[in-house]
Amino acid sequence: MLEVLVTFVFTFLIVWTAWFWLKVVLLALLLVLVFPGVYAMVRGAPFVPSMNKAIEGMLKLGKFKGTDRVVDIGCGDGRVIRRIARGKVKEAVGYELSIPTFLLARLRTFFAGGKEKIRFGNFWHQDLSKYDVIVCFLLIEAMTNFEKDIWPKLKKGTRVISNAFKLRGVKITAEKDGVYLYVKK
Ligand SMILES: C[S@@+](CC[C@H](N)C(=O)[O-])C[C@H]1O[C@@H](n2cnc3c(N)ncnc32)[C@H](O)[C@@H]1O
Repeated sequence: MLEVLVTFVFTFLIVWTAWFWLKVVLLALLLVLVFPGVYAMVRGAPFVPSMNKAIEGMLKLGKFKGTDRVVDIGCGDGRVIRRIARGKVKEAVGYELSIPTFLLARLRTFFAGGKEKIRFGNFWHQDLSKYDVIVCFLLIEAMTNFEKDIWPKLKKGTRVISNAFKLRGVKITAEKDGVYLYVKK
């Protein structure tokens, strides 16, 4: 959703400048900055951060251990993966495809001195089978695609923790505060 702010600022600059080539450069930059986030919005979810109560639910359901490699697919500003990284986990990674949101997440991690790794990238194109826990807050269409494309490739015992949206064809292992836990059999 930070794309709206970026579009607003760039539109103002494009209208304000009198130089034709600067207008062209700004327009090109705007498209580059905004396109991945629009794709992420359509294929995953827009940036809407998880509420504190849901984050507490994720932490309780996760029962994270020092051996866990955890990934947040669509980490937004990194608030969930940052909380997880503060506990005992082996690795905490967040993928984010929206450029402004990714930069915000990196900035917040830098100032918080967090040990989570924020990566720019499309989680649909990552090998997620190496993770022990996957956390997400994605729209129902994305959850359906997750169930079809990613769930079958996960190793036995992988925990998937989803805020708000369910995997329709998988039995829920536990539920807390609108957060669902699934364990791959
Ligand atoms: C609803 S927000 C959740 C943010 C964070 N996980 C939380 O719970 O606060 C979903 C995020 O997923 C990102 N996203 C959607 N599709 C993505 C994709 N294919 N690759 C990486 N990030 C994606 C969006 O840009 C957005 O920031």
